[in-house]
Amino acid sequence: MDKILIIGASGQIGSDLTIALREIFGNENVFATDIKQPPQDVLESGPFQILDVMNENALNDFVVKNKITQIYHLAAVLSGNAEKLPSKAWEINMKSLLSILNLAKEVGVKKIFWPSSIAVFGNTTPKIRTPQLTYTEPNTVYGISKLAGERWCEYYYNKYNIDVRSIRYPGLISYKTEAGGGTTDYAVEIFYEAIKFHKYECFLKEDTVLPMMFMPDAIEGTIKLMEADSNKLTIRSSYNMAAISFSPKEIAEEIKKHINDFTITYNPDFRQNIAESWPQSIDDSVARKDWDWQHKYSLPDMVQIMLNEISKKLGKNY
Ligand code: SER
Repeated sequence: MDKILIIGASGQIGSDLTIALREIFGNENVFATDIKQPPQDVLESGPFQILDVMNENALNDFVVKNKITQIYHLAAVLSGNAEKLPSKAWEINMKSLLSILNLAKEVGVKKIFWPSSIAVFGNTTPKIRTPQLTYTEPNTVYGISKLAGERWCEYYYNKYNIDVRSIRYPGLISYKTEAGGGTTDYAVEIFYEAIKFHKYECFLKEDTVLPMMFMPDAIEGTIKLMEADSNKLTIRSSYNMAAISFSPKEIAEEIKKHINDFTITYNPDFRQNIAESWPQSIDDSVARKDWDWQHKYSLPDMVQIMLNEISKKLGKNY
């Protein structure tokens, strides 16, 4: 039986992915770790330990002691936060990936998952249906670290046969854990503010279209990629993966269908430039072909579920 380590289990992806993996591999085989406490269900359904991925010795000991065979390394400083602390973000995002790749090489971890992002693209990238292989000239610290990370993943696959798999996630929208410090986070924050105050001030302009995805699709896709036959995978840097695209104005219109008096105002900050350097939609035909990726949730589906779940969580009707 595989023994799986999740690094960043308290974060936006980790808190949902841990539960999904525990359902497949058994609670006791999925080891959740983070530097902060996870949501209650992660804590109660299986092993959790505080572990700092930057502490290489502690990480090595943990992997050896628990006979870990798969690692999901989800810890990272996101785009907005990384611009405030460039050197620190570079160090955290890069050093942690390299120490996991080296660890895999030394102790023989079977599979690694590492998330990349649409942030690897930049101003010179075609913005509509951005191809798998295209110009990648990111101009954010986060994007530079993700692009370098992709190159390292492919390098370790080619040179040391480490089975690393990766996805360039679009903006991820979920209700369990709030996202922290990203440019696409407005599309999560908007639901909390809509339910609490019936209004939201957005940090992007109204017509800024970005590629997005509802978390259940992201989780299903991630597990599907990790379960795919290794011989079918033609990309060892990171796969484009797409679902829906929308602007702040479009998501606000959809929310208004449920909360009639909801209003949105716009006060763009430094994240507007980041958003404008990213694609509006993604061509993910290679993922669809190699490992049968397909998304399920539309914008209206997602809005309905987000409103219901967040209002339950806040104990407040909308
Ligand atoms: N959602 C991330 C961010 O905005 C992009 O990967 O930083």
